[in-house]
Amino acid sequence: MGKDKVIAIDGPSGSGKSTVAKELAKALGLLYIDTGAMFRSLAFMADKLNIKMEQGQEMNDFLSNIKMRYGVSPDCLIEIDGENLSQKIREHNVSKLASIISQIPEVRTYLLNFQRNLAKEVFCVMEGRDIGTVVFPNAFCKLFITASVDTRAKRRLNQLQESGDTNVTLEQVIGDVQKRDDSDINREVAPLKQAEDATYLDTTELTLPEIIKQLSQYVNEKAKEAGLQL
Ligand code: DC
Repeated sequence: MGKDKVIAIDGPSGSGKSTVAKELAKALGLLYIDTGAMFRSLAFMADKLNIKMEQGQEMNDFLSNIKMRYGVSPDCLIEIDGENLSQKIREHNVSKLASIISQIPEVRTYLLNFQRNLAKEVFCVMEGRDIGTVVFPNAFCKLFITASVDTRAKRRLNQLQESGDTNVTLEQVIGDVQKRDDSDINREVAPLKQAEDATYLDTTELTLPEIIKQLSQYVNEKAKEAGLQL
């Protein structure tokens, strides 16, 4: 069977994988797909509609009735029922809700189908926690990206401060990062883990241009191996 035309990038929050995935997609001219934004959008909308954040009929009805669209326009990465959620999903409280909703099996199944459909026709860089293990186990190229907890917490704090959230301390963010790692790694369905055939990359000591240069070469080699034309 031929390999799927997907560069699967997984790793914990704040590992730099979003930045790497975005830049790599740009360098190679491929579609960038942020699956975390999908979990965040479902969490934001479920919270707004007062849907119970647990497995059950209410959550199933919510999932059956919404219409999610990804990559709508340059200003709209993601929308549900016509509401542009691209900015709203970046707030600190949405991270917590997303971590909770991502544990619900029906939510994961809904997004698994959504993600597979989205990548059906196009070459893409898809980033998340379970892309190389569950969503596209047959991806031609898999990367697992991480960095030290301190580095990841500092990056997250910078992002929060840049978006105007100045009430959070580094200690709080370190605690949040550890808590989210713990729940991502230990959840029952599709936990965060490195696929056996994924290449491991620690970004703690590397600059972005170095990473993109190395990865572009690597992806080209993997594409050749798989008989795919980038
Ligand atoms: O990458 P992020 O921080 O935007 O992800 C938000 C949450 O969604 C995070 O708690 C992990 C979860 N997630 C997941 O379970 N599976 C994915 N493929 C992507 C994100």
